[in-house]
Amino acid sequence: MKQKNRKKIKILVIHGPNLNLLGKREPQVYGKVTLQKINSELKKLARKKGVLLKIIQSNYEGKIVEAIHKSINRFSGIIINPAAYTHTSVAIRDALASINLPAIEVHLSNIYSREEFRRHSLISAVCKGQICGFGMNSYLLALLALIDILCPKDKS
Ligand code: DQA
Repeated sequence: MKQKNRKKIKILVIHGPNLNLLGKREPQVYGKVTLQKINSELKKLARKKGVLLKIIQSNYEGKIVEAIHKSINRFSGIIINPAAYTHTSVAIRDALASINLPAIEVHLSNIYSREEFRRHSLISAVCKGQICGFGMNSYLLALLALIDILCPKDKS
């Protein structure tokens, strides 16, 4: 797919609970990068790649479920950091399983090197893949991976 045609590709980015506090929140784990900075780098990369992004953040499980429902017929794919809901939310998992869109799960930290309860994701089984442990780059890598899924023949 030519870059100009990628404008038809709309990707929804969902940040889950407490990610609004990035920068101040546990910097020893999540670094000093703010959500605003992550969003502006995502938008910059999206512009360069010629795709459209909508970015939302919510601290409420139901709002995230509704955003996933509303993505049907509006978006081509989803990037989601479900944050703490990764480990608890059957509702978010079922919502992602109910829509026919490719989703990529993202985490800033390496959830497998942390507390036991973080080592299990309820979400990953309904996603194309999971990227974790690379801080802000986890999101940027997810965007590249999703574009590759949506435009498989185009390596430019
Ligand atoms: C997180 C990891 C989760 O375990 C945690 O609850 C978060 C952030 C991450 O991006 O590393 O809030 O999703």
